[in-house]
Amino acid sequence: DRLLVLHGPNLNLLGSREPEIYGRDTLAAIDAGLRARAEAAGMAFESLQSNAEHVLVDRVQAAARDGTAFILLNPAAFTHTSVALRDALAAVAIPFIEVHLSNPHAREPFRRQSFFSDLAIGVIAGFGAASYSLALDAALARLAPAS
Ligand code: DQA
Repeated sequence: DRLLVLHGPNLNLLGSREPEIYGRDTLAAIDAGLRARAEAAGMAFESLQSNAEHVLVDRVQAAARDGTAFILLNPAAFTHTSVALRDALAAVAIPFIEVHLSNPHAREPFRRQSFFSDLAIGVIAGFGAASYSLALDAALARLAPAS
């Protein structure tokens, strides 16, 4: 089974981007931590960051055919704008968790709307880089329930 992690626009800048909001961990460091844990759990791991909506839509579509069992998705600004990415996730019907470093509900009003939350298994937001790690905990628990 494959775990796919998708990061939306501007998350390539993590580490230097508004560190008071998003923390100082780089995206590479976050991905390395997730990869180590996913692979230790016996999963194939892939991460993709893109600033382009169509690249993320294409990757979600491909996930329907490549053995992706679960997606961790930080849509970044597309959270609040992208019907297209939402529709792609609905089309493939792969379970996913919506992840945010910050707590969008504690910020500007336009961040309170998400095009993803009602389709997601759950939403983890506000814990910085640990949001991804907590989402991975939840994904692994769901994929391999304790017997
Ligand atoms: C974000 C929150 C979004 O509102 C914002 O546009 C981002 C990052 C987060 O992880 O906190 O780019 O998804």
